[in-house]
Amino acid sequence: MTTELEWVAACSAGDIEEEDVLRFDHTGQTYAIYHLRNGFFASDGWCTHERAHLADGLVLGDQIECPMHLGRFDIKTGDPLNPPVCKKLRLHPVKLQDGNVLIGLSVAGQS
Ligand code: FES
Repeated sequence: MTTELEWVAACSAGDIEEEDVLRFDHTGQTYAIYHLRNGFFASDGWCTHERAHLADGLVLGDQIECPMHLGRFDIKTGDPLNPPVCKKLRLHPVKLQDGNVLIGLSVAGQS
């Protein structure tokens, strides 16, 4: 069993201002797409503390601040940076193609 990536177009690169975040929903899951100074990044959409969507939060440099209790994560590593968040945020690979932001989602496959 291997894990393959399915690349899904989440948005156009121009849809997200620099230092901003956008919600992306796909097949029952929700994600947050970030535009930082040095590129695009993606994570699961829900905060790991409680049920708040990180796309409603604030991008501060390379960090996302949750809108509910103001916990912060490092967008490049997923590391929790301050209480009350203590569980790592799951990240997803991103690539740009033809002006679109593609997010790489894991697909279980047979090898
Ligand atoms: S729900 Fe995100 S910090 Fe509490």
